[in-house]
Amino acid sequence: MSSFQGKVVMITGGASGIGRVAALSFARKGAKVVIAGRNAEEGNKALDLLKEITDEAAFVQSDVTRESDVENMISETIKKFGQLDAAFNNAGIEGPNKLLADQTEADFETIVNVNLKGTFFCMKHQISTFMEQGRAGAIVNNASIAAHVGMPEGSIYAASKHGVVGLTKTAAMEYGAHNIRANVVSPASIHTTMLDRYLEDNATLGAGDEAVRSLTQKISLRRLGAPEEVADVAVWLCSDEASFVTGECIRVAGGHSSQ
Ligand code: NAI
Repeated sequence: MSSFQGKVVMITGGASGIGRVAALSFARKGAKVVIAGRNAEEGNKALDLLKEITDEAAFVQSDVTRESDVENMISETIKKFGQLDAAFNNAGIEGPNKLLADQTEADFETIVNVNLKGTFFCMKHQISTFMEQGRAGAIVNNASIAAHVGMPEGSIYAASKHGVVGLTKTAAMEYGAHNIRANVVSPASIHTTMLDRYLEDNATLGAGDEAVRSLTQKISLRRLGAPEEVADVAVWLCSDEASFVTGECIRVAGGHSSQ
């Protein structure tokens, strides 16, 4: 796989789960890595892990729902490393498991603010930065299998992730002429703390191993995925090896809902 030597990569939600594994993977390939997240303690712990691989890594505390935080995370990146070459917009939240008619306006605002508005703010300012630099750039947004199919008891989450696909495909069309690529990675059932929370909250799946069995029934490979399996695809999509790939959605879902 391509080297990221000399490249600067930003990962939102980089302090845990898929984002943290991706950050470590970019660093191993030679990238200078900036992780962004809300929680300073988690962020600094993830930074310690990155520092075992490279000195050229930083954590910037930021909440993607605030445009000023997103602008700050990019300006701190430029201040520290001089440029931005790629971004993995991975920050996201799952929301409560409820039928659509039981969801509230507050649920809607919370989920859409992080998953859709947060991704929009990130893309807006990352693209502006690529344009100002006058050089190529790559964006990968972390959506979900629920960006492509319905998700019972997760209607707002599914809507927010479908929205991420719309932003991505449109950005690919608008900025392709400037060699700015935008793609989506769509995971399902990846073993992170988010999945553990989902299993705990979703009584219809049963408990413990039974819940995992119920979930993996929908997956052709009949197992949960590992964060590394999503990170590998995100890293590839950001790399020069994917130089003619834009506006695409790649499912990393073990054959979930294969048709
Ligand atoms: P996670 O909960 O470990 O990671 C999410 C990260 O986003 C956390 O570090 C969290 O602090 C951060 N975050 C949340 N709100 C934020 C905000 N307002 N500003 C900045 N950071 C914020 O869970 P996981 O599984 O690693 O999730 C990563 C992405 O993958 C999410 O977008 C999620 O929707 C997506 N995904 C995960 C799946 C899974 O099975 N684990 C399946 C489908 C999609």
